[in-house]
Amino acid sequence: ALVGKGNHAHFMHKEIHEQPTVIGYTLHRMIDAAAGRVALSDLNVDLSAIRRVQLSACGTAALAALTARHWIEGLAGIPTSWDVASELRYRAVPMSGTELGVFVSQSGETADTLGAMAQAQSAGAHTLAITNVAESSMAREADDVLLTMAGPEIGVAATKTFTCQLVALACLAMAIGRARGVLGEARESAFVQALSEVPSRINDILGREQQLVTLAETIAPARNVLYIGRGMSHPLAMEGALKLKEISYIHAEGYAAGELKHGPIALIDGSMPVIVVAPRDALFPKTLSNMEEVLARGARVLLFTDAEGAEEADRPGVESFVMPAIDPLAAPLLYAVPIQLIAYHVALQKGTDVDQPRNLAKSVTVE
Ligand code: G6P
Repeated sequence: ALVGKGNHAHFMHKEIHEQPTVIGYTLHRMIDAAAGRVALSDLNVDLSAIRRVQLSACGTAALAALTARHWIEGLAGIPTSWDVASELRYRAVPMSGTELGVFVSQSGETADTLGAMAQAQSAGAHTLAITNVAESSMAREADDVLLTMAGPEIGVAATKTFTCQLVALACLAMAIGRARGVLGEARESAFVQALSEVPSRINDILGREQQLVTLAETIAPARNVLYIGRGMSHPLAMEGALKLKEISYIHAEGYAAGELKHGPIALIDGSMPVIVVAPRDALFPKTLSNMEEVLARGARVLLFTDAEGAEEADRPGVESFVMPAIDPLAAPLLYAVPIQLIAYHVALQKGTDVDQPRNLAKSVTVE
């Protein structure tokens, strides 16, 4: 192979650790740090003419896209829809030339994502591919392309490409917001600043990996794990559950914390750990009360939050991993990392084939 594992036991581990570097490369391509502004000079589309955004992808890329819905709605004030590509491609979604179809794919070769993109194109939408492979089918066929600079990803479970997709999507949201005249300069430069702090904050998390190894020991014996979060932490909860099931074969679900009471709370007992993703944003108090509901039913909680959050949530039964402080808008980029590392260390402790999990392929080019 052209790419080696270096001094890492697995590609996945190496790729998790590459994130500060490759996020830096991707940011470098998409922001003008000195000016504190987004600079997507690769795009041809007139973003001011867009009236609706349709996001679609598969797997981990779909969860990056789902996170981005919050950015696009919040920063660009534009209606944004999302669906997995295997569904979108067979739905009769009305689209026109004022529609921007955004398709996210590490490989640029996923059959369902290509199918959904072709369908959007034939309906007249303007298509934008966010991909890691410049020579891919998707990059060739899309009207516009944003390239993530993650470098080759070998581990089947996506890690560094996910966070680089988040960078591209955050920048796209700002670019649309600016083109539409709804994103103020101060807000843009604050988010750009937060994004540029992400690599060093991730280094801080990577330096405390041993703590996550210990926390993984409490998850590894479980047969079922529930991840909960609200807002942008909801897709992250789903990504945490996806990573865990993919590589450790533990059944896991990612749920919107507010939906717990409509079903999954029936599952909670002392044998089902609950992983709570809750940066101290506007939704934190709500997630905290959901955490209390599971604690009251005997669950052990692993909480990802920042220092203030950890202090507020300090109760018996809660173990916190304290995250660096960051602008809540950029939090998904940081919170992705301990979620990846927990899945990795649980899988390692269980002895599964981390880089090549059973039944999964890196790139699914058939339907
Ligand atoms: C496969 C991989 C996942 C990936 C998904 C989408 O299922 O195992 O890690 O998220 O395909 O791949 P893409 O290349 O389109 O991002």
